[in-house]
Amino acid sequence: MILHPLRAALLASAVSALNLDINSEESIKDAAGTVSFNMMTNYTANHTGEIPGKLPGTWWRGAILYNTLIDYWHFTDDASNNPAVTQGLNWQRGDNDNYMPANYSSYLGNDDQLAWGLAAMSAAELNFPQEDSMPEWSVLAANVFDTLVPRWDTKSCNGGLRWQIYPYQAGYATKNALSNGGMFELAARLARYTGNQTYADWAEKVWDWSVESSLVNNKTWVVGDSMQVEDECGNMGHIQLTANYKAYLNGAAYMFNMTNGTTTKWKSGVDGLLDTTFDTFFPKKYDGKVLSEVVCEPPMNCDADQDTFKGSLVSALAFTSQLVPHTADTILAKLESSAEAAAKQCSGGKDKTLCGRRWYQDKWDGTSSMEEDMSATNLFAANLVRFQGENKGLATAETSASSSDGNTTDGSDSSDDSTNSTGTSHGDIAETNGSGHLGVSGLVVGETLLTRQFRMPGSLQPSLQAGELFRNY
Ligand SMILES: *[C@@H]1O[C@H](CO)[C@@H](O)[C@H](O)[C@H]1NC(C)=O
Ligand SMILES: *[C@@H]1O[C@H](CO)[C@@H](O)[C@H](O)[C@H]1NC(C)=O
Ligand SMILES: *[C@@H]1O[C@H](CO)[C@@H](O)[C@H](O)[C@H]1NC(C)=O
Ligand SMILES: *[C@@H]1O[C@H](CO)[C@@H](O)[C@H](O)[C@H]1NC(C)=O
Ligand SMILES: *[C@@H]1O[C@H](CO)[C@@H](O)[C@H](O)[C@H]1NC(C)=O
Ligand SMILES: *[C@@H]1O[C@H](CO)[C@@H](O)[C@H](O)[C@H]1NC(C)=O
Ligand SMILES: *[C@@H]1O[C@H](CO)[C@@H](O)[C@H](O)[C@H]1NC(C)=O
Ligand SMILES: *[C@@H]1O[C@H](CO)[C@@H](O)[C@H](O)[C@H]1NC(C)=O
Ligand SMILES: *[C@@H]1O[C@H](CO)[C@@H](O)[C@H](O)[C@H]1NC(C)=O
Ligand SMILES: *[C@@H]1O[C@H](CO)[C@@H](O)[C@H](O)[C@H]1NC(C)=O
Repeated sequence: MILHPLRAALLASAVSALNLDINSEESIKDAAGTVSFNMMTNYTANHTGEIPGKLPGTWWRGAILYNTLIDYWHFTDDASNNPAVTQGLNWQRGDNDNYMPANYSSYLGNDDQLAWGLAAMSAAELNFPQEDSMPEWSVLAANVFDTLVPRWDTKSCNGGLRWQIYPYQAGYATKNALSNGGMFELAARLARYTGNQTYADWAEKVWDWSVESSLVNNKTWVVGDSMQVEDECGNMGHIQLTANYKAYLNGAAYMFNMTNGTTTKWKSGVDGLLDTTFDTFFPKKYDGKVLSEVVCEPPMNCDADQDTFKGSLVSALAFTSQLVPHTADTILAKLESSAEAAAKQCSGGKDKTLCGRRWYQDKWDGTSSMEEDMSATNLFAANLVRFQGENKGLATAETSASSSDGNTTDGSDSSDDSTNSTGTSHGDIAETNGSGHLGVSGLVVGETLLTRQFRMPGSLQPSLQAGELFRNY
C-alpha cells in the first residue's frame, strides 16, 4: 500500500501531536512548554489597564493558574511566566496580606481564599522567587490560615468551616470538602514548613472533624462534597470530584511526612485515599490508566472550575510520591499513562496542540480553554518528578533559600540551582507594590455582581440540596 507523504504526516500527528516520549525528560518538558504557552496566549491580566491576577469571570481560578505555573517552573526550570505569577500573587494579596483584597473580599468562599493561600504555600515550598519589598510567601500563606481560625464554626455540625464566609451568601449554609479539606491541607503544609505545632494541631482537628462528620469516610475512604447546616450536616452531597480528594490526600501526605511515617492515622489516610482516588477517577473502562473527572467528562458538561480540578490532583499526586515514598511506583505509573493518553487528546487547533478535557479519548474532543490547559500543563509537568534529584524536594523554613529579609537559616542545604530570580527584576516592583491599590475602597459593583452571578447562577437563594451542589464560584 502506498501512503502519500502528507497523509502519513497527518496520521502521525493524529497519533500524538505533542509527540510525547514519556521516557524522555526533554520530550515531557516540550509538551508542558507547548501547552503552557497555549494557556498563556489567553492571559491578559498583566496588560496595561487590566488587573493582575484577575481572570475574566472568576477570582479564585487566578490562584489555580499561578499554582500551575509555579509547579511548571519548578519541574521544567522555564521561568518565562514567573514575572506574571509574581505580579499577580502580590497584587491580589490585599491590604492585610491575607488574600482578602477589598475588590472581592465581600463575596468570597473560604475555598476561594484558600486557593490563593495554597498557591503562596507552593511558592514558599518550591523557593519561588519573591520581590524583596514583598512579604515572604510563607507569611502570606500563614496569614490566610489565621483568618480561617476564627471562622471555625462550632454552632452547627459540631465544627467545620462553612463554604462561604458571610451570612448573606447562599453558600454560608453549606459546609464543604474544598473549604475544610483546604484548611486541613494548608495547616498540614504550614506545619511541615514551619515546624510550628499549632498548625499540626489544627490539621489534626480539621481532619478529625471531617471524619466525624463523614465528609471523609475513614472506612470506605470516600470523600463527600458538601453538607447543609440546617439539618446539622445530616445529609451528604456525594458528588465525586478530584479536587476534594486532592485536598485531603495532600494534607495527609504532608502529615505522614512530618511525622516520619510513624502515625497509622496518616498512613491509612494516604493509602486509603489513594486507593479510592484510583478506583474512582481512573475508570476501569480505560484500564484504570487515565485520570478523568468522571461526573462531567462523559456528558461533556464540566464547568471551567471543574476543568482545573484534575490538574490540582496530579500535582498533589506528584508531591505525594515524594513525601510518601512507598506510593511512588503506583502514582508514577498512573501519571505516565495519563500523560501518554492526554498527549493524544491534545491535538486540536491549527498546530494540533490544543487540549480538550477527555484525556481518555485519542481524538481531540473539540474544546479548548485556559482551564483545560491548566490541567494538562500540570499533568505533563508532574511527570518530570521522576527526573528530579534528591535536592529538589519541598523546602521548609529551615532549608528555604528564599527568605527575603535576611532571615535565612545557616546551614541551608536547599537546592539553589533553579531559584535565581531571573525575571523578577526590580523594575516589576513599582507595578506590583500593593500601595497602588490601598486607595481603592469599597466594592466595584459591576464586578461583584458578575462574580456573584457567576457563582450562583439563577438565584440568590438557591435551595441547595444534598448531592446537587456543583462548585459555582
Ligand atoms: C504577560 O505574561 C505573559 C505570560 O507569561 C507573557 O508572555 C507576556 O509577555 C506578559 N505581557 C506583559 C505585557 O507583561
Ligand atoms: C480593584 O479594582 C480596581 C478598579 O478596577 C483595580 O484598579 C485594582 O487593580 C483592583 N485591585 C485588585 C487587588 O484586584
Ligand atoms: C505558631 O503559629 C501560631 C498561629 O499562627 C502563632 O500564633 C504562634 O505564635 C506560632 N508559634 C511560634 C513558636 O512561632
Ligand atoms: C476512623 O475514625 C475514628 C474516629 O472517628 C477512629 O476511632 C478510627 O480509628 C479511625 N479509623 C482509621 C482507620 O483511621
Ligand atoms: C522525625 O525525624 C526527625 C529527624 O530524624 C526528628 O528530628 C523528629 O523529631 C521526628 N519527628 C517525629 C514526629 O517522629
Ligand atoms: C519526606 O519527604 C522527603 C521528600 O521531600 C522524602 O525524601 C522523605 O523520605 C520523606 N519522609 C518519609 C518519612 O517518608
Ligand atoms: C482562548 O480562549 C478562547 C475562548 O475565549 C478559546 O476559544 C481558545 O481556544 C483559547 N485558547 C487556548 C489556547 O486555550
Ligand atoms: C526574622 O527574624 C526575626 C528575628 O528572629 C523575627 O523577629 C522576624 O519575625 C523574622 N521575620 C520573618 C518574616 O520571619
Ligand atoms: C543568576 O542571574 C544572574 C543575573 O541575571 C546571572 O548572572 C547568573 O549567572 C544567574 N545564576 C544562575 C545560577 O543561573
Ligand atoms: C511599596 O509599598 C511600601 C508600603 O507598603 C512603601 O513604603 C514603598 O515605598 C513602596 N515602594 C514602591 C516602589 O512604591
